[in-house]
Amino acid sequence: SKFALVIVAAGRGERAGSPSDGPKQYRRIGGKPVIVWTLSRFLTHPGCSDIVVVIHPDDEALYADAIVGLSPERPIKTVFGGANRQASVRAGLDALRDTRPAYVLIHDAVRPFVTQDVIDRVLSALDAGHHAALPAVAVADTLKRGDAEGNVTDTIARAGLFGAQTPQGFDFASISAAHARAVTETGAEFTDDCAIAEWAGLTVRLTPGSPVNVKLTTAEDLAMADERLSSQAR
Ligand code: C5P
Repeated sequence: SKFALVIVAAGRGERAGSPSDGPKQYRRIGGKPVIVWTLSRFLTHPGCSDIVVVIHPDDEALYADAIVGLSPERPIKTVFGGANRQASVRAGLDALRDTRPAYVLIHDAVRPFVTQDVIDRVLSALDAGHHAALPAVAVADTLKRGDAEGNVTDTIARAGLFGAQTPQGFDFASISAAHARAVTETGAEFTDDCAIAEWAGLTVRLTPGSPVNVKLTTAEDLAMADERLSSQAR
């Protein structure tokens, strides 16, 4: 089935190392900018009808340079993001207001390894009537809580715990309404869209994510991603 896609790429990426390196979504891995790998995963998907990329106002030139050479069959719309991820997603959803797609998938620009299978499982859950679908992977490591002194205070039972990935899929009307309510009704900041859906009372369906669908957060993540793509090319 058809879906609209919001890719959030307006973060500053401060955790990836010195700011002079620029935001990580524009850094090159395997010879191409991260965001180009990410976009390519969706451009080849037959169900992807509309794409909105949410960028930072300072990154207009970076973005334009990055996507040179991508000649998408459908136009890619760009809008400016906000101060946090939640505000950036809201800007992306707003850009789809007139389009009013049945489904929207919301994806981090910094997850370039998302697979067709992960996307399709999210779509299947939406087709089955769920209003929100989350790709997730069961936590494999034992989880510890630590204190400011660097000591373990607690072990957290990992049974039933999942790491949340993207793309997170939604019934467009439901997630748009939830996002709008979240701004006016709570000061809380949500780090993903399923958390907003949960807050709004929607049931979020778990679907299998993939261990390869990692988020590139640190300089080490970028180096590993580059290594992986370069060794695949050899
Ligand atoms: O900061 P975090 O790792 O949660 O970022 C996840 C995604 O959200 C990244 O693709 C980043 O570019 C995006 N983001 C955004 N606007 C912000 C902060 C993060 O679009 N203000």
